[in-house]
Amino acid sequence: MKKNLEKIDFGFKKVNINKKEKLVNNIFNSVSSKYDLMNDLSSLGFHRLWKQELINWIAPQSHQSLLDIAGGTGDIAKLFIKTGGLSADIIDINYNMLINGISKNNNKIRYIVGNCEKLPIRNNVYDRVTIAFGLRNITNRQLALDEIYRVLKPGGRFICLEFSQVNNNIAKKLYDLWSFKIIPKLGKFITDNEDAYKYLVESIRMFPDQDKLSSMFVKSKFERVKYKNLSNGIVSLHSGWKI
Ligand SMILES: C[S@@+](CC[C@H](N)C(=O)[O-])C[C@H]1O[C@@H](n2cnc3c(N)ncnc32)[C@H](O)[C@@H]1O
Repeated sequence: MKKNLEKIDFGFKKVNINKKEKLVNNIFNSVSSKYDLMNDLSSLGFHRLWKQELINWIAPQSHQSLLDIAGGTGDIAKLFIKTGGLSADIIDINYNMLINGISKNNNKIRYIVGNCEKLPIRNNVYDRVTIAFGLRNITNRQLALDEIYRVLKPGGRFICLEFSQVNNNIAKKLYDLWSFKIIPKLGKFITDNEDAYKYLVESIRMFPDQDKLSSMFVKSKFERVKYKNLSNGIVSLHSGWKI
């Protein structure tokens, strides 16, 4: 049998394309129990504001269903329901991430273990689809975007929250210092896995910038594609519609 020798970024390293999914899974298995705490510490709490901004952009309504892709411990789904959405399904490839965030008393949220490159979902199901800090970790991102388009209802909207490219030189210097000098050490102290947080900061630098990501949305047939930067472009929100 022919081996696939194609390489892909895993942080600053290049790995065989078939290996990335397992490497990413190992990372989230190892940090899942401390994931929420590390999010608060490494972002100084900003991830909560960014996620709230995503929800503000969606403006959930009581008839709307959501699929949150790579939903992890469920922050987006929980906010969507709290803000008035009808129901939320979370899909994540990593069982431990889902288990660490499960809300036992919330029957509006359902949990699915699965790969967003091949969603186990029919066509045209959801009013809204989101992905927060997930796309960066996915091997075939274009395929994931195609799948998201497929499961959205016509008239549905997709929003992606992801780390992006900082557009201010002073902010970039401070952010690089924090990212490369502090975050991996915090990761070591809290999760005993410095490499996981080295991967995090490296993968951010390797991720497509705002314009490139917009063009990937267009390639997957999304319309009315636009983005907005938050915190000087440390993160950006990208939106596209299935018309
Ligand atoms: C950085 S976490 C983001 C979790 C959550 N969305 C948040 O904002 O806190 C990235 C998540 O993507 C998940 N993931 C990575 N590759 C995936 C894939 N191919 N399909 C579904 N989930 C995936 C990981 O298991 C992990 O839970």
